[in-house]
Amino acid sequence: MTRIITNFNEKGGVGKTCSTLNIGAALSILGKKVLLIDLDPSRKLTKYCGINPETLEKSTYHVAIGYVKPEDIVIQLPKIDLLPATKDLEAAIEDFVLMRERHGRMGELLFREQTKDFFMNYDYVIFDTMPTHSKLTDAALIASTEVFMVVLPEYFSVDSLADLLQTVQDIQSAHNPTLQITGAYIARKHGGFGSHLNLDSHVKESLGKLLFNTKIRTCESVNNSTGHHRDIFEYDKKSRGAKDYMALAKEIVQQEGKYE
Ligand SMILES: Nc1ncnc2c1ncn2[C@@H]1O[C@H](COP(=O)(O)OP(=O)(O)OP(=O)(O)O)[C@@H](O)[C@H]1O
Ligand SMILES: [Mg+2]
Repeated sequence: MTRIITNFNEKGGVGKTCSTLNIGAALSILGKKVLLIDLDPSRKLTKYCGINPETLEKSTYHVAIGYVKPEDIVIQLPKIDLLPATKDLEAAIEDFVLMRERHGRMGELLFREQTKDFFMNYDYVIFDTMPTHSKLTDAALIASTEVFMVVLPEYFSVDSLADLLQTVQDIQSAHNPTLQITGAYIARKHGGFGSHLNLDSHVKESLGKLLFNTKIRTCESVNNSTGHHRDIFEYDKKSRGAKDYMALAKEIVQQEGKYE
């Protein structure tokens, strides 16, 4: 059974893209077949994977508007497969609206139809989404079976959690009733494992058992690896970032079967 996961937080700089790449790489090392999807017009996942988006003619944008199939644009990298983004992706937000006017079908829904058979080739499909809520975020959530909340302790408040939960709930009730929040992880945590987490107590209560035990600590090598367009295992496999992402991936694998 393919697990299709949106890495979700509608704030910038919380570590979504880094985590998408490194969780994907760790899962691949654990023997899983992994597809990563860049649905952010900033194209950072594509760049972190070492692909220059300017050299690409087609991307997730062309899949989103039904112009090509995912198998036509997929890039096979040593560990993971990637559906890359190009600058055009920005236009998909507008095109989704036009598609609805012209064809009476939401572009976000068509995206799920365009991709679902292809996704079955993988054990894990992970979406990287934008730092603001858009129709591209909706497209990812509609095509997903699961959501992982990416939590940055310093900024995670009751208000932002409520907004995220509302977005997921809206998608569940309108388009994807089986979508489930199946995990939350702390990204970019300062200090050692034992130090106090500055999570609001209400957030702790709400996320409760969804929180993975592993926290991704702030790590210089993780930060540098993105600039070098490498995953953390390739860049510095002995770093604490590599240890954290591998521990998190093992917890994710342990969930298999639980949410099907
Ligand atoms: N564990 C970490 N330790 C140190 N630096 C990190 C860590 N995780 C991410 N970073 C750095 O933080 C910055 C933001 O990370 P990333 O691009 O993954 O965030 P994001 O949530 O995807 O941001 P955006 O929403 O703007 O796309 C990057 O420069 C990245 O290298
Ligand atoms: Mg990002």
